[in-house]
Amino acid sequence: MTFHDDLQRATDWVERYLAGVGDLPVATTVEPGAIRARLPVSAPEQAEPFEALLRDLDELIVPGLTHWNHPRFFAWFANTGSEPGILAELLIAALNVNNMTWLASPAATELEVTVLDWLAQLVGLPRGWHGHIEDTASTATVAALAAARELKPGGVVYASEQANFSVEKAARLVGLEFRKVPVDAEFRMQTDFPLEDASAVVATVGTTGTTSVDPVPELADRCAAAEVWLHVDAAYAGSAAVCPELRWCLDGCDRADSIVINPHKWLFTPMDCSALWTRRPEAFHDAFALVPEYLASTEAAIDLKDYGPALGRRFRALKLWAVLRWYGAEGLRELIREHVRLAQLFAEWVDAEPGWRVTAPHPFSTVCFRHEGLDNFELARATTATGEAFVAATRLGGEDVIRLAIGNERTTEADVRRTWEALRRCATA
Ligand SMILES: Cc1ncc(COP(=O)(O)O)c(C=O)c1O
Repeated sequence: MTFHDDLQRATDWVERYLAGVGDLPVATTVEPGAIRARLPVSAPEQAEPFEALLRDLDELIVPGLTHWNHPRFFAWFANTGSEPGILAELLIAALNVNNMTWLASPAATELEVTVLDWLAQLVGLPRGWHGHIEDTASTATVAALAAARELKPGGVVYASEQANFSVEKAARLVGLEFRKVPVDAEFRMQTDFPLEDASAVVATVGTTGTTSVDPVPELADRCAAAEVWLHVDAAYAGSAAVCPELRWCLDGCDRADSIVINPHKWLFTPMDCSALWTRRPEAFHDAFALVPEYLASTEAAIDLKDYGPALGRRFRALKLWAVLRWYGAEGLRELIREHVRLAQLFAEWVDAEPGWRVTAPHPFSTVCFRHEGLDNFELARATTATGEAFVAATRLGGEDVIRLAIGNERTTEADVRRTWEALRRCATA
């Protein structure tokens, strides 16, 4: 068996999977431990052909997966393993460079800072900031809070009660106290909290619950006056700013100290790829730069290991590069606009149906809604159990609500319609 044959088998598998993923049940019904019980207890002593792995992938693994690349996956924040992203991941593994320092792979470092500059331009962020890629927004926020701590150690991190829990985790990791700030009726962070004891404020553009946008311009004013670090978590909604008509969501972010946007959420880039920019790279450098003798830095070059927690760094820039070139800015805008259109359409259907209600503003591609007479956790579970669509429930302002988050390139109006019908059928049943 040659590598050529296996490569062909793998790419055939990928093509078949993507063509048929919409016909699979979106979410699996396996019981905990069921997959493990079918796997061998130890690694094989003898080499096995790659074909055997592909067979087991089909028989053992795929039936136990939740299919995030399914067009009717609407839970949490739906995303896309796009064609350019998939192809680039193959190339990344073939190259297998470790982009820890410039010298370790000069083109990888230079491509990373270049594509981050491209992306900053696409979403209207200032030019000239330092930008690099972290694995996740969780790590990016850890890095930002570590940088903030360099300037003001020992203080409090303030974020809204709707901020993603990764913010609290990051504060805990860098040893800063975390305090939640209440939200207004539209789930936006209130701004009248004390800043005297603050090390940092984290504003969210596109909260996990409702995709609400915190008042960044006001927070930026207050943080500037108090000399407090402002980090913006735009993990999901920041991608919307590729569309000029949605760019309002990043208003004020040019005055933040750091901002994170996840191309692996709503910019068609496979897991994982989180873009982090800062106008204060020296604070990141102070927090993270340690130079062991075996990794001497190169004059006039940038070592990206000095701006975040990890030493080993994947060549993630290659997939972001592939995505930005494959779609072009126009292609990305079209996809984002279509998702926003589908979400608005879905919200109209819900609003028009007696007994159902949209429960929060929906400026992007995520709609929170509820059936007034039912347990919405149970309704989401029953709908997901049909295998037709995956929706998840949460609690919001004391109510149980279902979220429909559109983010997959392959999702069509027919998919959204079919999901609405499945929800209504389950509600009636
Ligand atoms: C608003 C927001 N911020 C941060 C995160 C954490 O993202 P990551 O999984 O990249 O750490 C999420 C995850 O959904 C999120 O919704």
